[in-house]
Amino acid sequence: MLYENYSLLHNNTFGIDVTTRYFFEYETKEELQSFLQSEIAKKNKLLPIGGGSNLLFLSDFEGVILHSQLKEIEIENEDEDFIFVKVGSGVVWDSFVQHCVDNGWGGVENLSLIPGEVGASPVQNIGAYGVEAKDLIYSVEVVSIKDSSVVEFANSDCRFGYRDSVFKHELKDKFIVVSVTFQLRKNPIYNLDYQYLKSEVEKRGDCSLKTIRETIIEIRNSKLPLPEVLGSAGSFFMNPVVEKDFALELQKKYPLMPFYPLSETSVKLSSAWLIDQCGWKGKRIENVGVYEKQPLVLVNFGGASGKEVVSLAEEIQQSVFEKFKVKIKPEVIFV
Ligand code: EPU
Repeated sequence: MLYENYSLLHNNTFGIDVTTRYFFEYETKEELQSFLQSEIAKKNKLLPIGGGSNLLFLSDFEGVILHSQLKEIEIENEDEDFIFVKVGSGVVWDSFVQHCVDNGWGGVENLSLIPGEVGASPVQNIGAYGVEAKDLIYSVEVVSIKDSSVVEFANSDCRFGYRDSVFKHELKDKFIVVSVTFQLRKNPIYNLDYQYLKSEVEKRGDCSLKTIRETIIEIRNSKLPLPEVLGSAGSFFMNPVVEKDFALELQKKYPLMPFYPLSETSVKLSSAWLIDQCGWKGKRIENVGVYEKQPLVLVNFGGASGKEVVSLAEEIQQSVFEKFKVKIKPEVIFV
Protein backbone atom coordinates (compact mmCIF):
# COMPACT_ATOMS: atom_id res chain seq x y z
CA MET A 1 0.00 0.00 0.00
CA LEU A 2 1.40 3.38 -1.02
CA TYR A 3 0.55 6.56 0.88
CA GLU A 4 1.42 10.12 -0.09
CA ASN A 5 2.43 13.00 2.20
CA TYR A 6 2.30 10.70 5.20
CA SER A 7 2.90 11.83 8.78
CA LEU A 8 5.78 10.04 10.51
CA LEU A 9 4.81 11.18 14.00
CA HIS A 10 3.88 7.62 15.01
CA ASN A 11 6.72 6.00 13.07
CA ASN A 12 9.62 7.43 15.06
CA THR A 13 9.98 6.86 18.78
CA PHE A 14 11.55 10.32 19.26
CA GLY A 15 8.11 11.68 18.37
CA ILE A 16 9.40 14.21 15.82
CA ASP A 17 6.54 15.67 13.79
CA VAL A 18 7.64 15.31 10.15
CA THR A 19 6.15 13.89 6.96
CA THR A 20 7.41 11.74 4.11
CA ARG A 21 6.59 12.30 0.43
CA TYR A 22 5.70 8.56 0.10
CA PHE A 23 5.19 5.74 2.58
CA PHE A 24 5.09 2.20 1.24
CA GLU A 25 3.99 -0.76 3.33
CA TYR A 26 4.27 -4.33 2.01
CA GLU A 27 2.79 -7.59 3.23
CA THR A 28 4.70 -9.97 0.97
CA LYS A 29 8.20 -10.13 -0.41
CA GLU A 30 6.78 -10.12 -3.95
CA GLU A 31 4.94 -6.86 -3.26
CA LEU A 32 8.25 -5.28 -2.26
CA GLN A 33 10.05 -6.76 -5.28
CA SER A 34 7.56 -5.34 -7.77
CA PHE A 35 7.44 -1.94 -6.05
CA LEU A 36 11.24 -1.66 -6.31
CA GLN A 37 10.91 -1.87 -10.10
CA SER A 38 8.32 0.93 -10.25
CA GLU A 39 8.97 4.46 -11.43
CA ILE A 40 8.37 5.95 -7.97
CA ALA A 41 10.96 3.64 -6.42
CA LYS A 42 13.49 4.22 -9.20
CA LYS A 43 13.20 8.01 -9.10
CA ASN A 44 13.20 8.62 -5.35
CA LYS A 45 15.49 8.14 -2.42
CA LEU A 46 14.45 5.03 -0.47
CA LEU A 47 14.65 4.54 3.28
CA PRO A 48 13.57 1.26 4.89
CA ILE A 49 12.51 1.70 8.50
CA GLY A 50 11.45 -0.65 11.26
CA GLY A 51 9.94 0.73 14.45
CA GLY A 52 11.77 4.05 13.89
CA SER A 53 13.45 3.60 17.24
CA ASN A 54 16.94 4.50 16.10
CA LEU A 55 16.26 7.42 13.79
CA LEU A 56 16.23 11.16 14.19
CA PHE A 57 14.39 13.11 11.49
CA LEU A 58 15.85 16.57 10.92
CA SER A 59 13.28 17.61 8.32
CA ASP A 60 10.46 16.24 6.14
CA PHE A 61 11.62 13.29 4.05
CA GLU A 62 11.50 13.86 0.28
CA GLY A 63 11.51 10.24 -0.79
CA VAL A 64 9.92 6.87 -0.05
CA ILE A 65 9.90 5.30 3.38
CA LEU A 66 9.51 1.52 3.15
CA HIS A 67 7.95 -0.40 6.02
CA SER A 68 7.67 -4.18 6.25
CA GLN A 69 4.53 -5.95 7.38
CA LEU A 70 6.13 -9.38 6.95
CA LYS A 71 5.01 -10.98 10.18
CA GLU A 72 5.65 -14.68 9.80
CA ILE A 73 7.61 -16.72 12.32
CA GLU A 74 8.38 -20.22 11.05
CA ILE A 75 10.60 -23.09 12.05
CA GLU A 76 13.04 -23.72 9.20
CA ASN A 77 14.97 -26.60 10.62
CA GLU A 78 16.00 -28.28 13.84
CA ASP A 79 18.44 -30.78 15.23
CA GLU A 80 19.08 -32.18 18.68
CA ASP A 81 20.45 -28.94 20.13
CA PHE A 82 19.19 -26.11 17.95
CA ILE A 83 16.09 -24.74 16.36
CA PHE A 84 16.36 -22.47 13.32
CA VAL A 85 13.58 -19.91 13.23
CA LYS A 86 12.91 -17.65 10.24
CA VAL A 87 11.33 -14.37 11.28
CA GLY A 88 9.76 -11.72 9.04
CA SER A 89 11.37 -8.27 9.15
CA GLY A 90 8.10 -6.64 10.28
CA VAL A 91 7.73 -8.69 13.47
CA VAL A 92 8.04 -6.50 16.55
CA TRP A 93 11.32 -7.51 18.14
CA ASP A 94 9.98 -7.97 21.64
CA SER A 95 7.05 -10.11 20.51
CA PHE A 96 9.61 -12.41 18.88
CA VAL A 97 11.53 -12.57 22.18
CA GLN A 98 8.28 -13.37 24.02
CA HIS A 99 7.54 -16.12 21.47
CA CYS A 100 10.99 -17.68 22.06
CA VAL A 101 10.62 -17.57 25.84
CA ASP A 102 7.12 -19.13 25.62
CA ASN A 103 8.52 -21.96 23.49
CA GLY A 104 11.60 -22.55 25.64
CA TRP A 105 14.06 -21.47 22.91
CA GLY A 106 17.14 -19.88 24.44
CA GLY A 107 19.32 -17.05 23.18
CA VAL A 108 17.39 -13.81 22.81
CA GLU A 109 15.98 -13.49 26.36
CA ASN A 110 18.61 -10.88 27.37
CA LEU A 111 17.40 -8.76 24.46
CA SER A 112 13.91 -8.42 25.94
CA LEU A 113 12.09 -5.12 25.49
CA ILE A 114 14.50 -3.65 22.94
CA PRO A 115 12.24 -1.44 20.83
CA GLY A 116 12.00 -1.84 17.07
CA GLU A 117 11.41 -4.63 14.58
CA VAL A 118 13.30 -7.75 13.52
CA GLY A 119 14.48 -6.28 10.19
CA ALA A 120 16.71 -3.77 11.95
CA SER A 121 18.34 -6.31 14.27
CA PRO A 122 21.13 -7.38 11.89
CA VAL A 123 21.69 -3.91 10.46
CA GLN A 124 22.82 -2.38 13.72
CA ASN A 125 23.51 -5.63 15.56
CA ILE A 126 21.27 -4.74 18.51
CA GLY A 127 22.63 -5.71 21.88
CA ALA A 128 22.08 -5.54 25.62
CA TYR A 129 23.12 -7.25 28.84
CA GLY A 130 26.04 -9.16 27.38
CA VAL A 131 24.28 -10.50 24.28
CA GLU A 132 24.23 -9.20 20.71
CA ALA A 133 21.99 -10.17 17.77
CA LYS A 134 25.11 -11.48 15.99
CA ASP A 135 25.38 -14.27 18.58
CA LEU A 136 22.01 -15.67 17.45
CA ILE A 137 21.71 -14.73 13.77
CA TYR A 138 22.23 -17.67 11.42
CA SER A 139 21.45 -15.87 8.15
CA VAL A 140 19.81 -12.76 6.75
CA GLU A 141 17.54 -12.73 3.69
CA VAL A 142 17.55 -9.49 1.71
CA VAL A 143 16.08 -8.07 -1.51
CA SER A 144 18.32 -6.09 -3.84
CA ILE A 145 17.12 -2.53 -4.43
CA LYS A 146 18.65 -2.51 -7.90
CA ASP A 147 17.12 -5.63 -9.45
CA SER A 148 14.78 -7.09 -6.79
CA SER A 149 16.77 -10.33 -6.59
CA VAL A 150 16.76 -12.23 -3.30
CA VAL A 151 20.12 -12.80 -1.62
CA GLU A 152 20.97 -14.74 1.52
CA PHE A 153 23.83 -13.61 3.77
CA ALA A 154 25.42 -16.02 6.19
CA ASN A 155 26.36 -14.66 9.62
CA SER A 156 30.02 -14.28 8.63
CA ASP A 157 29.09 -12.27 5.49
CA CYS A 158 27.44 -9.63 7.69
CA ARG A 159 30.74 -8.56 9.29
CA PHE A 160 29.14 -7.77 12.59
CA GLY A 161 30.77 -5.44 15.12
CA TYR A 162 29.57 -3.46 18.10
CA ARG A 163 26.32 -1.83 16.82
CA ASP A 164 27.73 -2.39 13.35
CA SER A 165 27.43 -4.55 10.22
CA VAL A 166 28.20 -4.55 6.50
CA PHE A 167 24.67 -3.15 5.95
CA LYS A 168 25.83 0.18 7.45
CA HIS A 169 28.88 0.38 5.18
CA GLU A 170 29.62 -1.28 1.80
CA LEU A 171 26.04 -2.52 1.42
CA LYS A 172 24.33 0.62 2.67
CA ASP A 173 21.28 1.52 0.52
CA LYS A 174 21.74 -1.63 -1.58
CA PHE A 175 19.52 -4.22 0.14
CA ILE A 176 16.37 -4.44 2.21
CA VAL A 177 16.15 -7.08 4.94
CA VAL A 178 13.04 -9.25 4.55
CA SER A 179 13.70 -11.99 7.09
CA VAL A 180 16.25 -13.10 9.63
CA THR A 181 16.92 -16.71 10.62
CA PHE A 182 17.94 -17.20 14.24
CA GLN A 183 19.72 -20.22 15.68
CA LEU A 184 18.28 -20.82 19.15
CA ARG A 185 19.01 -23.41 21.79
CA LYS A 186 16.54 -26.07 22.81
CA ASN A 187 18.43 -26.47 26.08
CA PRO A 188 19.19 -22.84 26.91
CA ILE A 189 22.56 -21.73 28.23
CA TYR A 190 21.93 -18.63 30.32
CA ASN A 191 24.19 -15.61 29.94
CA LEU A 192 24.19 -13.75 33.25
CA ASP A 193 27.69 -12.26 33.21
CA TYR A 194 26.60 -8.64 32.76
CA GLN A 195 27.36 -6.68 35.94
CA TYR A 196 24.54 -7.24 38.47
CA LEU A 197 22.34 -9.42 36.22
CA LYS A 198 22.92 -12.75 37.99
CA SER A 199 22.09 -11.41 41.45
CA GLU A 200 18.99 -9.63 40.13
CA VAL A 201 17.71 -12.84 38.51
CA GLU A 202 18.44 -14.86 41.65
CA LYS A 203 16.28 -12.50 43.68
CA ARG A 204 13.35 -13.88 41.67
CA GLY A 205 14.11 -17.48 42.50
CA ASP A 206 14.94 -20.13 39.94
CA CYS A 207 16.79 -19.05 36.85
CA SER A 208 14.72 -19.63 33.70
CA LEU A 209 14.09 -17.90 30.39
CA LYS A 210 10.98 -16.41 31.97
CA THR A 211 12.72 -15.03 35.07
CA ILE A 212 15.58 -13.64 32.96
CA ARG A 213 13.08 -11.91 30.69
CA GLU A 214 11.17 -10.48 33.66
CA THR A 215 14.39 -9.23 35.25
CA ILE A 216 15.62 -7.56 32.06
CA ILE A 217 12.23 -5.90 31.57
CA GLU A 218 12.34 -4.58 35.12
CA ILE A 219 15.91 -3.24 34.71
CA ARG A 220 15.10 -1.58 31.40
CA ASN A 221 11.92 -0.02 32.76
CA SER A 222 13.84 1.42 35.68
CA LYS A 223 16.47 3.04 33.41
CA LEU A 224 14.93 3.76 30.04
CA PRO A 225 11.85 5.85 29.23
CA LEU A 226 8.91 4.15 27.52
CA PRO A 227 8.71 5.67 24.01
CA GLU A 228 4.92 6.02 24.33
CA VAL A 229 5.38 8.18 27.44
CA LEU A 230 8.52 10.16 26.60
CA GLY A 231 10.03 10.38 23.12
CA SER A 232 13.55 8.98 22.77
CA ALA A 233 15.61 6.62 20.65
CA GLY A 234 17.14 4.60 23.48
CA SER A 235 20.88 5.16 23.75
CA PHE A 236 21.62 8.25 21.70
CA PHE A 237 25.40 7.69 21.69
CA MET A 238 27.51 4.58 21.30
CA ASN A 239 30.03 3.64 23.94
CA PRO A 240 33.41 4.82 22.58
CA VAL A 241 36.08 2.30 21.72
CA VAL A 242 39.58 3.53 22.68
CA GLU A 243 43.11 2.20 23.04
CA LYS A 244 43.61 0.34 26.30
CA ASP A 245 46.68 2.44 27.17
CA PHE A 246 44.69 5.63 26.75
CA ALA A 247 41.97 4.30 29.08
CA LEU A 248 44.52 3.24 31.72
CA GLU A 249 46.08 6.69 31.59
CA LEU A 250 42.64 8.32 31.96
CA GLN A 251 41.81 6.01 34.84
CA LYS A 252 44.79 7.38 36.80
CA LYS A 253 43.01 10.71 36.81
CA TYR A 254 39.51 9.25 37.26
CA PRO A 255 39.92 6.05 39.33
CA LEU A 256 36.18 5.30 39.28
CA MET A 257 35.90 5.40 35.49
CA PRO A 258 34.44 2.09 34.24
CA PHE A 259 35.62 0.34 31.08
CA TYR A 260 35.19 -3.06 29.50
CA PRO A 261 37.77 -5.07 27.53
CA LEU A 262 37.08 -5.49 23.83
CA SER A 263 40.35 -6.90 22.47
CA GLU A 264 43.98 -7.13 23.60
CA THR A 265 44.56 -3.47 22.86
CA SER A 266 41.14 -1.80 22.86
CA VAL A 267 38.45 -1.16 25.46
CA LYS A 268 34.93 0.27 25.53
CA LEU A 269 34.35 3.27 27.79
CA SER A 270 30.92 4.11 29.19
CA SER A 271 29.31 7.10 27.47
CA ALA A 272 26.69 7.23 30.24
CA TRP A 273 29.46 7.70 32.81
CA LEU A 274 31.34 10.31 30.75
CA ILE A 275 28.16 12.34 30.16
CA ASP A 276 27.12 11.99 33.79
CA GLN A 277 30.55 13.32 34.90
CA CYS A 278 30.01 16.40 32.76
CA GLY A 279 26.89 17.16 34.77
CA TRP A 280 24.31 16.57 32.05
CA LYS A 281 22.06 14.06 33.79
CA GLY A 282 18.49 15.35 34.11
CA LYS A 283 19.27 18.66 32.33
CA ARG A 284 16.58 20.17 30.15
CA ILE A 285 16.92 22.81 27.42
CA GLU A 286 13.45 23.87 26.31
CA ASN A 287 11.81 20.84 24.63
CA VAL A 288 14.76 18.46 24.86
CA GLY A 289 16.84 17.00 27.65
CA VAL A 290 19.08 14.30 29.07
CA TYR A 291 17.10 11.53 30.75
CA GLU A 292 17.34 11.68 34.54
CA LYS A 293 17.88 7.92 35.00
CA GLN A 294 20.23 7.17 32.07
CA PRO A 295 22.28 10.06 30.65
CA LEU A 296 22.93 8.14 27.42
CA VAL A 297 19.31 8.78 26.47
CA LEU A 298 18.18 12.12 25.02
CA VAL A 299 14.47 12.83 25.34
CA ASN A 300 11.80 14.92 23.63
CA PHE A 301 9.55 16.48 26.28
CA GLY A 302 7.07 17.31 23.52
CA GLY A 303 7.16 19.34 20.34
CA ALA A 304 10.95 19.15 19.83
CA SER A 305 12.43 19.40 16.35
CA GLY A 306 15.20 17.11 15.19
CA LYS A 307 17.52 20.12 15.03
CA GLU A 308 16.97 20.89 18.72
CA VAL A 309 18.00 17.34 19.59
CA VAL A 310 21.12 17.63 17.42
CA SER A 311 22.24 20.87 19.01
CA LEU A 312 21.89 19.36 22.50
CA ALA A 313 23.82 16.30 21.30
CA GLU A 314 26.60 18.51 19.95
CA GLU A 315 26.90 20.40 23.22
CA ILE A 316 27.20 17.11 25.09
CA GLN A 317 29.83 15.78 22.67
CA GLN A 318 31.83 18.96 23.03
CA SER A 319 31.81 18.96 26.81
CA VAL A 320 32.81 15.27 26.96
CA PHE A 321 35.66 16.00 24.56
CA GLU A 322 36.85 19.03 26.53
CA LYS A 323 36.93 17.11 29.81
CA PHE A 324 38.17 13.67 28.69
CA LYS A 325 39.53 14.15 25.13
CA VAL A 326 37.17 11.35 24.06
CA LYS A 327 34.88 11.62 21.03
CA ILE A 328 31.45 10.05 21.52
CA LYS A 329 29.52 9.24 18.37
CA PRO A 330 25.74 9.02 17.92
CA GLU A 331 24.23 5.57 17.63
CA VAL A 332 21.07 7.18 16.26
CA ILE A 333 20.97 7.76 12.50
CA PHE A 334 20.18 11.29 11.34
CA VAL A 335 17.80 11.56 8.40
N1 EPU B 1 26.32 5.08 34.35
C1 EPU B 1 26.56 6.29 34.96
N2 EPU B 1 25.50 7.09 35.27
C2 EPU B 1 24.22 6.71 35.00
C3 EPU B 1 23.97 5.49 34.37
C4 EPU B 1 25.04 4.69 34.05
O1 EPU B 1 27.70 6.65 35.25
O2 EPU B 1 23.31 7.48 35.32
C5 EPU B 1 27.47 4.21 34.03
C6 EPU B 1 27.68 3.20 35.11
O3 EPU B 1 29.05 3.07 35.32
C7 EPU B 1 27.12 1.92 34.50
C8 EPU B 1 27.49 2.12 33.05
O4 EPU B 1 27.26 3.52 32.83
O5 EPU B 1 27.72 0.81 35.03
C9 EPU B 1 26.71 1.29 32.08
O6 EPU B 1 25.32 1.59 32.16
P1 EPU B 1 24.24 0.59 31.55
O7 EPU B 1 24.31 -0.75 32.17
O8 EPU B 1 22.90 1.27 31.59
O9 EPU B 1 24.69 0.38 30.04
P2 EPU B 1 25.18 1.39 28.90
O10 EPU B 1 26.56 1.03 28.52
O11 EPU B 1 24.95 2.79 29.30
C10 EPU B 1 24.46 -0.16 26.92
C11 EPU B 1 23.64 -0.12 25.68
C12 EPU B 1 22.15 -0.20 25.99
C13 EPU B 1 21.91 -1.50 26.75
C14 EPU B 1 22.79 -1.51 28.02
C15 EPU B 1 22.71 -2.82 28.75
C16 EPU B 1 24.93 1.15 24.04
C17 EPU B 1 25.04 2.41 23.25
N3 EPU B 1 23.92 1.08 24.91
O12 EPU B 1 24.18 1.01 27.68
O13 EPU B 1 21.45 -0.27 24.75
O14 EPU B 1 20.55 -1.64 27.09
O15 EPU B 1 24.18 -1.35 27.65
O16 EPU B 1 23.45 -3.77 28.07
O17 EPU B 1 25.74 0.23 23.86
C18 EPU B 1 20.40 1.09 23.09
O18 EPU B 1 21.31 0.76 22.32
O19 EPU B 1 19.46 1.85 22.72
C19 EPU B 1 20.42 0.63 24.47
C20 EPU B 1 19.54 1.02 25.38
